[in-house]
Amino acid sequence: MTTLSTLNKFKKDGTKFTCLTCYDSMFARMMEKAEIDTILIGDSLGMVVQGHDSTLPVTVNDMAYHTANIARSNRHALILADLPFMSYVTLPEAVANSRQLMQAGAHVIKIEGGSELCDLITTLAQAGTPTCVHLGLTPQSVNVFGGYKIQGRGDEAADKLLTDAKAVVAAGAALLVLECVPAELAKAVTEAVAVPVIGIGAGADTDGQVLVMHDMLGMTHGRVPRFIHDFLTDERNSARSIEGAFALYQQSVREGSFPTEQHQFS
Ligand code: KIV
Repeated sequence: MTTLSTLNKFKKDGTKFTCLTCYDSMFARMMEKAEIDTILIGDSLGMVVQGHDSTLPVTVNDMAYHTANIARSNRHALILADLPFMSYVTLPEAVANSRQLMQAGAHVIKIEGGSELCDLITTLAQAGTPTCVHLGLTPQSVNVFGGYKIQGRGDEAADKLLTDAKAVVAAGAALLVLECVPAELAKAVTEAVAVPVIGIGAGADTDGQVLVMHDMLGMTHGRVPRFIHDFLTDERNSARSIEGAFALYQQSVREGSFPTEQHQFS
């Protein structure tokens, strides 16, 4: 069973680890077989499961439902669950909603933002709830960014992201996710903080990698971002099976053959 201590040891030893999004039981069982290290019940379910254009319509009840599906079906992975859009604006509401997700089976609560989250992170840590802070391209802020765009480009933006990362870790964050930032910046953040950093479109130097499960099985609606690799049709997955795709992803991240330069941004 993967725990935060396992991930901290992986970081210390330089062992790269995996995360995949997952929303239902059968896939969670297959991920258990492939020994995927961590599972994220992402609010990306709003897009890949519910058919919305963004993650914004997802509710805490939706997240709790899918988190419970996974918790019943996978005993190997550390389970991360997203607090959805506007469900952590005030401390009391953030605490109540985190309780609901932890009681549904999450081990870690993921929240999007920067240093403005510090009070919440400390409050949750003191209440026995570890947090993972998602920085960079944070999909819940798509209307602030004006689209899904690479973040942290240029000295000022890079400095802000690095400062935010250090602040949330000092406040007690247990993990970070960095999405769609230049690989060089992701490397600098990973080296600057003591906690494990999980990247998506953030290059090969983060401690772990995460992909949306549907994307890595070749099921992407619309434009395929450059950080995605289709592990289902990869010729090394000789059976072309879903189990084989999960196992190949696990192996590729561990041995450092995914991601490559072609999957990263500068
Ligand atoms: O919701 C999600 O799937 C995510 C990943 C893209 C990291 O936050």
